[in-house]
Amino acid sequence: MAEHVIAIDQGTTSTRAIIFDRSGAPVATGQKEHAQIMPRPGWVEHDPVEIWQNVQEVIGIALGRADLTRHDLAAVGITNQRETTVMWDRRTGRPVCNAIVWQDTRTQGIVDRLAAEGGVDRFADAVGLPLATYFAGTKIAWILENVAGAREDAEAGHLLFGTTDCWVLWNLTGGVDGGVHVTDVTNASRTMFMDLETLQWREDILAEFGVPRSMLPEIRSSSEVYGRAESSSLLRETPIAGILGDQQAATFGQAAFEAGESKNTYGTGCFLIFNTGREMVRSQNGLLTTVGYKLGEAPAHYALEGSIAVTGSLIQWLRDQLGIISSAEEVEALAAQVPDTGGVAIVPAFSGLFAPYWRPDARGAIVGLTRYSDRRHLARAALEAVALQTRDVLDAVNADVAAADGVPLSELRVDGGMVVNDTLMQCQADVLGVPVVRPRVTETTALGAAYAAGLAVGFWEGLDELRANWDEDRRWVPGIGPEERERRVRRWRKAVEKSMDWVD
Ligand code: G3P
Repeated sequence: MAEHVIAIDQGTTSTRAIIFDRSGAPVATGQKEHAQIMPRPGWVEHDPVEIWQNVQEVIGIALGRADLTRHDLAAVGITNQRETTVMWDRRTGRPVCNAIVWQDTRTQGIVDRLAAEGGVDRFADAVGLPLATYFAGTKIAWILENVAGAREDAEAGHLLFGTTDCWVLWNLTGGVDGGVHVTDVTNASRTMFMDLETLQWREDILAEFGVPRSMLPEIRSSSEVYGRAESSSLLRETPIAGILGDQQAATFGQAAFEAGESKNTYGTGCFLIFNTGREMVRSQNGLLTTVGYKLGEAPAHYALEGSIAVTGSLIQWLRDQLGIISSAEEVEALAAQVPDTGGVAIVPAFSGLFAPYWRPDARGAIVGLTRYSDRRHLARAALEAVALQTRDVLDAVNADVAAADGVPLSELRVDGGMVVNDTLMQCQADVLGVPVVRPRVTETTALGAAYAAGLAVGFWEGLDELRANWDEDRRWVPGIGPEERERRVRRWRKAVEKSMDWVD
């Protein structure tokens, strides 16, 4: 009998396949990084063909390490970097250009054009999002407007759009030979085209963006059988039964199923998701309204989201662009050598600032430098920047929750690659003023996708079984008083102000 589920996590910097057992414990992992292609300032691309090759490779690695075959797998779940836009020709399976990554800001001109009438919030009531370069909609429009022949081919019905979940699913289910062109509600809710109530594409908004309906995937729930892996693949005939965008998947993997539950994931960026249950809460404080999950025929759960574009990628920047550390892990040891940042603050507004500011014109800033500052202070300031950006988002969540007479967040569940960094976690508890809690399994993104897939095929029976799998590993409590906390926040917000209005 199949005693495992495999999840494919197609992330911003790497693709992983993780095999989980019934207790939700990871059994084996395959992982491969892909190239970050940055042809111009503000542009970030991935090669979809490289990503698809990596998907196949990491599945093989994970199966090999676990010494399992497809017969041991009950289902496949897919989770993915959201918003990253792939467009390909259904006749050949070839992408028309590189994928435009969520961090890419090239579409600001399209955002400005669409916002000229009605402002950036003109579609927010319907789709829960402001007009911003972040979401897939303007990226699709950009390809149609700028890649030779794309508009004609799209209008002739030859081109397909998908976020990377959809690209992986289409290829996994046969590609040109009958690939399934489907996405789930959580990914669709990041395009700007899905109506949050009907969970269907909005023809009127598509028309405003000039995007033909025929290129969009069908929107399905996050947990149902979409198709089976094609016969020549390693996963031959295994049902693909769960899809969730990575941040929603992490929320699901943290067992934050109900209203009032939340999590923060520390990856390339940071994404705090606060489950609002069946209710759609409209943020008055710069958060997004998004779909949390939808299990089969059951109604959707919604969430408020605070998206921060740059956190883990700031550490990569210290490593790759500044060269002041040789590995990401080194940042912690370096930061721990000094008691504070020596007055230095880093605002990593590389893609402008996302939540709660939504300032595309903001640019990265390092302020407070003196002759005394050295790389240890920069390392510490980088970690503080991660924690303080999260504080900004948490304040917005609490303000929205207070307006709805709800209860403020009393602790924060965390996951993602950076939560192994104890200095960061302590700093996070310090600046939030609430405990920070890490679960035993921190691979919550892949776990969430595995859960969605396993539920659809009856491998797991229900949410209670999954909740019982969640287990606390460690908790950090605030180690500074309110005065020091507010002093740090005040100084941070001054630095944020300095990062704005830099561009002429
Ligand atoms: O919205 C972007 C987000 O889904 C990317 O997540 O973990 O790949 O940085 P990650």
